[in-house]
Amino acid sequence: LDAVPFYGEHQAGITTPAQDRLHFVAFDVITSDRAKLVTMLQDWTSAAVRMTAGLDAGALGAVGGPAQAPPQDTGEALGLPPSQLTLTFGVGASLFRDARGRDRFGLAAKRPAALEDLPHFPGDALRAEISGGDLCVQACAQDPQVAVHAVRNLARIGMGVVSVRYSQLGFGRTSSTSTSQATPRNLMGFKDGTANLKAEETEELDKHLWAAAADGADWMAGGSYLVTRKIRMIVETWDRTSLSEQEAIFGRNKGEGAPLSGKGEFDEPDFGRKGPDGEPLIADEAHIKLAHPTMNGGARLLRRGYNFVDGSDGLGRLDAGLFFMAYQRDPRKQFVPVQRQLARRDILNEYIRHVSSGLFAVPPGVRDAADYWGRGLF
Ligand code: HEM
Repeated sequence: LDAVPFYGEHQAGITTPAQDRLHFVAFDVITSDRAKLVTMLQDWTSAAVRMTAGLDAGALGAVGGPAQAPPQDTGEALGLPPSQLTLTFGVGASLFRDARGRDRFGLAAKRPAALEDLPHFPGDALRAEISGGDLCVQACAQDPQVAVHAVRNLARIGMGVVSVRYSQLGFGRTSSTSTSQATPRNLMGFKDGTANLKAEETEELDKHLWAAAADGADWMAGGSYLVTRKIRMIVETWDRTSLSEQEAIFGRNKGEGAPLSGKGEFDEPDFGRKGPDGEPLIADEAHIKLAHPTMNGGARLLRRGYNFVDGSDGLGRLDAGLFFMAYQRDPRKQFVPVQRQLARRDILNEYIRHVSSGLFAVPPGVRDAADYWGRGLF
């Protein structure tokens, strides 16, 4: 439950072994004053440095300041360890130009071409009030109280400059991002993250994860692009589906997570292998076939999603699913083609619904105390 270093070439919270808990938040910027925005980003960064080290958000802390003033920290993390808290910051396309196309902060020329609104996909049931956002922070930690504390204090510090647009809690990371981690399970009961892009694949990370200056936006070199999709699962229908149908949908078995063409979890799927009936063991519409790099021009993603259960929906159904998050070098070449395939043909679609969507440019890491989140933009 140590601290994860905050400073570095890349932001923490991407290839960092996925922690168990998530509090993701998207903000709207409510000021038109560029200087106020910059000051808040500097204040946020100092608070993030402190909180990821297990300290109070402000130097005077929850109880060390004047009795007449609101405390510099809300206090609920007092006495808790850093819990591997990471805070990962991103900016949405709407920061660069608003719905009417106006350049809000003189940043239009800096908008990376890759930060382009995602297209509509068949079956999308997106709710605007839980989609998009000018800024985002992904807080991950081993303790939910620590992640919630961090987001709450950033919202407190940002008062008058930003307002919370939506936030999402998650648990039971659904992806391993390092070969040192066992593969966890999603709420459909399947191992999730087996074929994920992993921290140890350094050459692949340069190719598929980190943006480079040559991609067009200098300030994004060493950064990445985050796609978020809140995907509701229709668990009651899923739970009435037979085991063999469930396995056919993913193309993997439920116990081991092995491809239906093989035995071990990490066996390469063999899409050509046929069963005794002459049919391929992994169906053409199976999730792992449609999402496989060979079907998508070699595209890979670093998935880093979380399960969610937001209680029940008032109709006796669990409001549950996957808060999908994936990092990549260019969503136009990665998330978009993969999701196009899935939205059109995936048998899984009968059991899921995409209800929110976000796309954020996640800048490179903060280098030192003089640096701050988003400095490359201003
Ligand atoms: C693989 C579940 C949505 C992209 C997998 C696997 C499972 C799974 C169980 C196999 C194990 C693994 O390699 O991780 C789910 C569920 C989803 C969902 C339950 C929705 C609720 C998505 C979406 C995308 C996606 C929206 C991207 C657009 C991938 C990719 C793979 C994968 C790239 C690896 C394919 C390979 O190379 O073998 N998913 N997934 N998934 N999924 Fe999903």
